[in-house]
Amino acid sequence: MAEQAQWDRQRVSEIIHSTKSMAGALLPMLHAIQDSQGYIPKDAVPMIAESLNQTRAEVHGVISFYHHFRQTPPARKRIEICRAEACQARGSRELEAYAKEKLGISYHGMTASRDFSLDPVYCLGNCACGPSVRIGDEVVGRVDKTRFDELVDDAMTLPLEISS
Ligand code: FES
Repeated sequence: MAEQAQWDRQRVSEIIHSTKSMAGALLPMLHAIQDSQGYIPKDAVPMIAESLNQTRAEVHGVISFYHHFRQTPPARKRIEICRAEACQARGSRELEAYAKEKLGISYHGMTASRDFSLDPVYCLGNCACGPSVRIGDEVVGRVDKTRFDELVDDAMTLPLEISS
């Protein structure tokens, strides 16, 4: 399966080894694995479970509970729309409806091409300039429908990097 070929087992083993003795090790371990690999590979779950003396179901339950943890490789460009109050007051609800329609996906979804994913976020520290959007590593303010189209079009003309 292609998904399994994309992750670095050695690096994941190192992360597991370096985090398994921490208090409440599971969440920091999962965060570190996702930061490193972009997602939590399915075949890493038994390794994680064994290192913490937990069942695979327990580990899987935690991964599934938090939307933050991805179980498949990420899109090449991640788009997040701020849903916090200041951005809502400046039109983020309308923007998110437009973004879903344009990309053809809902929140926590990914386009079939794997070019874009769409997620909600709660404040990007750019409250005075809402609606705010993060695309890849860039936070952009005052995003209306036209600006959103430009951001997506610009992203398509550049090499798309995996964003975590
Ligand atoms: S409320 Fe949207 S950036 Fe803070």
